[in-house]
Amino acid sequence: MSNYQTPALLEGFAVSATLESLRIKQLEEQSATLRNSVICAFNQLLDLKDLNTGVHSTRLAEWGMRVGQELGLEESELQNLEVAALLHDIGKVGIPDAILRKPGRLDADEYDLMKKHSEYGWAVLRMLPGFERAALDILHHHESFDGKGYPAGLKDTEIPVVSRIVCVIDAFDAMVSSRPYRKGLPYEEAVRRLNEASGTQFDPVVVRTFLSFAQAEMSTVFAAAGTSVSSAL
Ligand SMILES: [Fe+2]
Repeated sequence: MSNYQTPALLEGFAVSATLESLRIKQLEEQSATLRNSVICAFNQLLDLKDLNTGVHSTRLAEWGMRVGQELGLEESELQNLEVAALLHDIGKVGIPDAILRKPGRLDADEYDLMKKHSEYGWAVLRMLPGFERAALDILHHHESFDGKGYPAGLKDTEIPVVSRIVCVIDAFDAMVSSRPYRKGLPYEEAVRRLNEASGTQFDPVVVRTFLSFAQAEMSTVFAAAGTSVSSAL
């Protein structure tokens, strides 16, 4: 009798395994949809506060993913990296405009307040199921490799790898991008500054990995940043 039951049992297992994998696929799709919706919603919030730099954040995500892939990050880490690259400054929504838009240097108190943006970003994103890890990565995106950053003064590999990546590419992008009150730095000067701070402010492995492909992309970058390629290279 068992000879007759075995194929039916096996068939039953096969059906439930298929249903299970379908269910997992559905959950993964739902999770990806939620992630994209959250990114879109927060990007709109950044737009409202005039904090979204469009090309800047998309480019950060592309560079970040490339560095992450070259460093062998797992798929789940790459997903967090995408969120962290796009939304690392979401906490600036909580910083007063007088400080965000101050054209000159911030005084000590203003700078202390500005530094709160990484904690604010963490405090908001950690409330969303599935974003807890990305929230932590955002919390630490201004840590320094030598331990002199903020908010926790973490150093070296104590700093989450995603935060170390966002820190480098964000700094580089800020250097080469033009602002209303200043012109972006030429590529070679930005590379020099990145190398100079490699091992102190920045993770040297991340810097090396980023620079291994950065130059090849510079014409696009400088076109988007409003800096002329000929003056930059
Ligand atoms: Fe930041």
